[in-house]
Amino acid sequence: MKKPTDTSFAGITDKFARNIYATSKGRLRLAVLARDLAPLLEKAAAKPMRVLDIGAGLGQVNIWFAEQGCQVTHTDIAAEMVQGAQAVHADAGLGENYRYICAELQELPNQLAGETFDLVICHAVLEWLHDPAAAIAVLKQFMAPEAVLSLMFYNRDAKLFANTIYGNFDYVQSELQVKKRVRLSPQQPIAPADVTQWLADNQLQIIEKTGVRCFHDYLREPKQHQDAAELLELELKYSRQAPFQALGRYQHWLIKRP
Ligand SMILES: C[S@@+](CC[C@H](N)C(=O)[O-])C[C@H]1O[C@@H](n2cnc3c(N)ncnc32)[C@H](O)[C@@H]1O
Repeated sequence: MKKPTDTSFAGITDKFARNIYATSKGRLRLAVLARDLAPLLEKAAAKPMRVLDIGAGLGQVNIWFAEQGCQVTHTDIAAEMVQGAQAVHADAGLGENYRYICAELQELPNQLAGETFDLVICHAVLEWLHDPAAAIAVLKQFMAPEAVLSLMFYNRDAKLFANTIYGNFDYVQSELQVKKRVRLSPQQPIAPADVTQWLADNQLQIIEKTGVRCFHDYLREPKQHQDAAELLELELKYSRQAPFQALGRYQHWLIKRP
């Protein structure tokens, strides 16, 4: 039987940069992550951290830590993504702060044997893996004793809710099984309840949960409102409050070893 494979972004680096980051969705994502990671960035400015970013793509988030003087290990399965990130970081004069590894997550324990980090970042990767549960144990093994894991994943509950209110009842009833594959749309949204269980199985503790895009994706007139400054303010204000947090299209959780 053919081994199930994860989804590399090779061949779609430019499309990813345009569709994911140069849009209102991307701007909101970065604004919420910047707010969530601000205390860690402050800590890093005082004492540089060792940072590992897995499935790092173009490195838009880890660059904030490099700017604070941190050493960043940037890894991704797609060589094209790694090269793209390398060019961005070199342009910013931060090349010295980086080590690049082109490898799949599952291969990293061999490549980084025995190394641990103060911050492990894994954003928008779990939903592309054939075995996301197993990935949590890999992430844990790179966490130093006081380390933080910044984990972001595509939220199945939000996808179910959005599709129901859009009237896509068949799709929801078929357990969100896609008929036609859309390249940049994750094929396996992740249930937060599953992540909670996987973290518990690995004795990892959630410090903070944030919803990313709790309102944006449910706007009735997206074109009219999606870039409004007020929307960003509301997203930031409610992204950690129930029930809005649970409806964020992505979930960003900060996690530690107890
Ligand atoms: C949606 S992108 C997210 C990129 C980046 N973390 C961000 O938030 O902008 C998913 C990334 O995961 C990478 N990826 C997919 N499967 C992987 C695997 N098994 N190991 C490492 N990276 C993987 C893809 O090549 C892609 O760059």
